[in-house]
Amino acid sequence: MNLTAENHRVPLSDGNSIPLLGLGTYADPQKTPKGSCLESVKIAIDTGYRHIDGAFVYYNEHEVGQAIREKIAEGKIKREDIFYCGKLWNTCHPPELVRPTLEKTLKILQLDYVDLYIIELPMAFKPGDAIYPKDENGKIIYHDTDLCATWEVECHPYFTQPKLLEFCRQHNIVIVGYSPLGTSRDETWVNVSSPPLLKDPVLNAIGKKYNKTAAQVALRFSIQRGVVVIPKSFNPQRIRENFQIFDFFLTEKEMKEIEALNKNIRYVELLMWRDHPEYPFSDEY
Ligand code: A2P
Repeated sequence: MNLTAENHRVPLSDGNSIPLLGLGTYADPQKTPKGSCLESVKIAIDTGYRHIDGAFVYYNEHEVGQAIREKIAEGKIKREDIFYCGKLWNTCHPPELVRPTLEKTLKILQLDYVDLYIIELPMAFKPGDAIYPKDENGKIIYHDTDLCATWEVECHPYFTQPKLLEFCRQHNIVIVGYSPLGTSRDETWVNVSSPPLLKDPVLNAIGKKYNKTAAQVALRFSIQRGVVVIPKSFNPQRIRENFQIFDFFLTEKEMKEIEALNKNIRYVELLMWRDHPEYPFSDEY
């Protein structure tokens, strides 16, 4: 498959297609100035991104919707050029809540549809107004919902998921890998004792050869394996940097070298919820 900046979509079995590179939009709402998401999504669309990954629980979905709508109004894109993925939060898992929650998301976005709607995490919390419902001891109140669906998968050179990828390939399932650069290393939810991916000597050495950064090599590695990536950046230079991955090609030897970096390191372990009956990361996939 020839991956270009204009066309790096992979077909889906329903006739739609998903761009292999998308912009992630999660940033800590306490630390991120209002409007940065709006500006970043607009810069991303101008750069050529056509896939945006967002969620209700990121508290900035209205900015994503506004950016897309402004770019449509400018005539830069049409709605159908954009692939938007939204997410169902943990407090809305009961089947009867799914449709109204999606409708709420559409209202926030002020768009008629989303292209993909996934379960944010396979661990249900008690439904209600509180996003993080807690008991009198401050512990999250879990909820028992029959969960029969799939969810996103962390995927990068330190967590290459060979077994899962092979299974998905055999069944024609496309994987979206979150945190393809090894996360923002926010210690409230990331295991920061794991080594930082972008400091990896092999990624940096391969990058040097092509005049690319370790981040660009990590992203190129994923899309060359057919794994969709959604690196978040609200920094204009890095938004553009992450899109400059269609003008070089990793050799088979380099792909093997990067695959060999796998350390089964999962950065997003969510250990605070490991006693949830549906905690997903204890099983091998
Ligand atoms: P920033 O927005 O300042 O660029 P995620 O795991 O959610 O995809 O987050 C990726 C993290 O990596 C963010 O903290 C983002 O911060 C940072 N980042 C994104 N692109 C690059 C890059 N090209 N080089 C280094 N860091 C990056």
